[in-house]
Amino acid sequence: MTLTKPKKIENKIAAKETLLTPRFYTTDFEEISKLDISKNQQEIEAIVEEFRIDYNRDHFIRDKEFSKTWDSFDEKTRNIFIEFLERSCTAEFSGFLLYKEISRNLKNLNPLLAEGFSFMARDEARHAGFLNKAMSDFNISLDLGFLTKTRKYTFFSPKFIFYSTYLSEKIGYWRYITIYRHLEKNPSYRVYPLFRFFESWCQDENRHGDFFAALLKSQEHLLNTNEARLWCRFFLLSVFATMYLNDLQRKDFYASIGLNAKEFDQYVIRKTNQSAKTLFPIVLDVDHPEFFLLLDKCSTINQKLSEIDKEEYSTIAKSIFKVPYYGKLIFTLIKLYLLKPIETNYIWAM
Ligand SMILES: [Fe+2]
Ligand SMILES: [Fe+2]
Repeated sequence: MTLTKPKKIENKIAAKETLLTPRFYTTDFEEISKLDISKNQQEIEAIVEEFRIDYNRDHFIRDKEFSKTWDSFDEKTRNIFIEFLERSCTAEFSGFLLYKEISRNLKNLNPLLAEGFSFMARDEARHAGFLNKAMSDFNISLDLGFLTKTRKYTFFSPKFIFYSTYLSEKIGYWRYITIYRHLEKNPSYRVYPLFRFFESWCQDENRHGDFFAALLKSQEHLLNTNEARLWCRFFLLSVFATMYLNDLQRKDFYASIGLNAKEFDQYVIRKTNQSAKTLFPIVLDVDHPEFFLLLDKCSTINQKLSEIDKEEYSTIAKSIFKVPYYGKLIFTLIKLYLLKPIETNYIWAM
């Protein structure tokens, strides 16, 4: 019998929080518990029933391909992989905490929704755990308990949680499936076994998105009013812009798996926008000639902001230097928001 020397696993303190790092959210649990979901109860019940089947119960099992040593990765590749795993793990774990808290608070007041949220928390815990195990292949792990206690929680009202998590789940689905299909066609770029798991994994995210879609449909005023149209536009743009700015800062990671970050993001944005067409009264005109030009401008400004961060100025000096760039960024985002949207003619009524 051969004994392998146990690896020394360092506990990693989560990276510094910036505007674009995955956030932790909290909400008004009482307001959610009082929601009358009777208008779309059947669809919600059907999705909860699917969650109960638990298609991916046996999916997240590490096979022998993971036991290979990953020390052959050069320092740069290793670091970009760790960053990708850390950000993904934090985002999945943030979903777990939010869904778990909502479920706990709704237990006696709205059992159907409580059950739906607890199934989604189960899935996100699996995703976060699997990613954290993957980090240990690079001799590092995230202290999730520490993260829970020390991260700042952002308050979002329930309707904002519904719009933004619906879109995050759908964009997550498109990201995972696109990476999976690309590596299926180009196996030489599948440098680490995690990506093999994305096909079934992304179906979890797709079902979560469907749950939020069904929940939004049970609240007609969140889809049919003029106010709803403004919020749908706002959340589409913020979810798309956040991903675009984040990914274009991390081109090297996408290049390491043979993807062009810009092309990948533009494809994912188009697909998510198309998915939103089946729910939102309005979607963004991503084929408008200005749309990606303006997003590219935002990305260049964001690059400038991170360059200032890397300089050895004092914190006050950095903040002063950043002001004009923040001004330009906000101005460009407003221009994007004001581009004429596309009517989906989708009026939801039961
Ligand atoms: Fe997930
Ligand atoms: Fe999810």
